[in-house]
Amino acid sequence: MTNTALWNRRKQALGPTYSHFYDEPINIVKGEGVWLYDEKGTKYLDCYNNVVSVGHCNPNVVKALSDQAATLNTHTRYLNENIVSLAEKLSSKFPAKLDTCIFVCTGTEANDLALQMATAITGNDGVLVNEAAYHGNSIIMGAMDERRKDFGEKKWLETFEPPNTYRVPEGTAESFAAEIDKGIQRLADKGTELAATMLDLSFDSNGILIPPEGYAQLVVDKTHAAGGLVICDEVQAGYCRLGDNWWGFEKYDIVPDIVTLGKPMGAGHPVAAVVTTREIASKFAEIDSYFNTFGGNPVSCAVASAVLDEIDNNELLKNVTEVGEHLRVGLDKLNDKYDFIGNIQGSGLFWGLDLVEDRVTKEPMHDDKLRHITTLLKDEGVMMGSTGRYDNILKIRPPLIFSKENADQALAAIDKVFSAL
Ligand SMILES: Cc1ncc(COP(=O)(O)O)c(C=O)c1O
Repeated sequence: MTNTALWNRRKQALGPTYSHFYDEPINIVKGEGVWLYDEKGTKYLDCYNNVVSVGHCNPNVVKALSDQAATLNTHTRYLNENIVSLAEKLSSKFPAKLDTCIFVCTGTEANDLALQMATAITGNDGVLVNEAAYHGNSIIMGAMDERRKDFGEKKWLETFEPPNTYRVPEGTAESFAAEIDKGIQRLADKGTELAATMLDLSFDSNGILIPPEGYAQLVVDKTHAAGGLVICDEVQAGYCRLGDNWWGFEKYDIVPDIVTLGKPMGAGHPVAAVVTTREIASKFAEIDSYFNTFGGNPVSCAVASAVLDEIDNNELLKNVTEVGEHLRVGLDKLNDKYDFIGNIQGSGLFWGLDLVEDRVTKEPMHDDKLRHITTLLKDEGVMMGSTGRYDNILKIRPPLIFSKENADQALAAIDKVFSAL
């Protein structure tokens, strides 16, 4: 079957709801480590997929999955070793206070549950979320996405400007955090009090931002002073992604009230979690209970456990930190060479190149150009993505096993594509 025939069947069977990458869709049939292969055997370096944290089809994860699938798969209403040992292993990665895990299947479900906890415990229903943030696809998470216009008036929601020191160079920790005060005030003007501030400390959909020192703590303090809880969405920033630390919030020396996990946790298998304090979990349990049919099933727990082991056994945190630094040095050299790179931003194995029409005005590069760039990169055998409010930011977010050699290949491909523009 040709790709055109498959594409036509897909359009017929799935309808128009699904989007896809590249104007000419590619048919990926196999993954191995950092590599993806299409139906013709063409090999692509995967610099996009963070979900496969420990590599595509990691043999130890596949073995854990198939061994457990061949043994038993039920749910959390029976005793089972896997769920307990995963919770123990996972909480050992967190500050002592965050000692309670609840398993779900997706990042959306994790954020939904975190918000249920925050609203139940505080008795408030106001939510603060940064502009352009993405936290999931349920009706509540969807409504928090400012690009979605289909939810009518949102009395319970206010957005705050993200701490983008490239686009707002005069911004300080205090001035950016003052946006939280303003958001709290706007909620109060609508008669709503704060239940939670949602924080993705990678600011993924804003192009991977590094906030000024002290910013995160100010956000925590202001949220607590207003009676709300801080939910750190670590779906993107967690699992060593930013280097130096396991979790994005550790980079900024804060301890959130609730943490949500997803994508990299199962290296491709749908498993996600809420991690919180015993106090919060107990208060929530007094008000409500939670059951998720597939969340915490023994197969998912075996997979998530194997992912944690792979990260530890292969010292992937160290790898992310070292290869990330190597990548940064290479990206800085490209920054010197091409004046349409406005800024290189990010950390670890998570980088954004804010591409501009003009370095002085910082006008974002028009998004059809970035689409062209990612297509040319794909033609060079390298897969990257795009992000940002203006879709002008080239996103580099490879699996955690990415090597310096892989980074050099990615840098050479960017150089080649940029030099031909
Ligand atoms: C920061 C963040 N939170 C939550 C989600 C939602 O996760 P899921 O697609 O697993 O529901 C995403 C997905 O892209 C995300 O990037």
